[in-house]
Amino acid sequence: MEPIRCEHRGPVAVLTLNRPEALNALNRATLEALRGCCAQLAADHSVRAVVLTGEGRAFAAGADIAEMRGHSPADATAFSRLGHAALADLEGLAAPTIAAVNGYALGGGCELACACDWIYASQRARFGQPEVKLGVIPGFGGTSRLVRRVGVAWAKELVLSGEPVDAETALRIGLVNRTFPPEALLDAAVKAGETIAARSAVAVAAAKRVIQEGQGADLHVAHALEQEAFGLVSAREDRAEGMDAFLEKRDPKFPGR
Ligand code: CAA
Repeated sequence: MEPIRCEHRGPVAVLTLNRPEALNALNRATLEALRGCCAQLAADHSVRAVVLTGEGRAFAAGADIAEMRGHSPADATAFSRLGHAALADLEGLAAPTIAAVNGYALGGGCELACACDWIYASQRARFGQPEVKLGVIPGFGGTSRLVRRVGVAWAKELVLSGEPVDAETALRIGLVNRTFPPEALLDAAVKAGETIAARSAVAVAAAKRVIQEGQGADLHVAHALEQEAFGLVSAREDRAEGMDAFLEKRDPKFPGR
């Protein structure tokens, strides 16, 4: 069985982590499959948004503990590097990515959700970084991406206590954008993807890139990146169509160029 299923709902690709018997624990094969899916999605310009979810009662209950138990320190470093590479591939997609967190998002699962542009969650979801209960630390971005998303104080509480939070708390601390009844979650995420697909692909990709690059940069550099990208998108056909459509009081038909 493939560890990740990829299906297309019009312009939205839905990736489903598919090891429900292990609560979608992230083993080497799953991380490599994620890298393969990302390479395919990056090359497919018909894909305008990506939704990532989990089969069964978990989004992902973390990195695979059974696999990690036998790791030497060097193996553990290599495994962390593989996880980082897979999550960087996901984060680097030009198409926006939405995590639809249907259940447990623990350890590497929470870190995977944080590598998506935003997170929608089932009201039943639970988030946490329980690594300190296992004698390890987060290995796929829990000390970096999570900090940037929720701020250092909440990140420290989650990482240093190992205690999980429910969906309502995750919403309040800004880890999650919105919560939904479990049965409405996936459709809501796909609908958000369809909304994105109606916008200019050129503008969406440029805005995503500038936000991402700007986050790691000094404010003056971030402002300069925005100014440069604002000029670049203005050279593209999508801008002419978007502004003509507005002035002619009709919906735009973006060529995506
Ligand atoms: N790795 C491997 N297998 C896992 C797993 C994991 N992270 N999480 C769950 N499973 C497996 C269980 O071993 C169990 O398998 P068997 O049926 O073969 O025994 C199956 O999934 C179902 O799990 P439970 O029986 O434990 O289900 P539960 O409902 O009683 O508990 C849970 C659910 C609270 C999520 C519990 O499974 C749990 O605590 N899982 C581990 C969570 C965790 O510690 N994650 C962090 C991993 S370390 C990490 O992620 C490092 C990093 O940053 C890269």
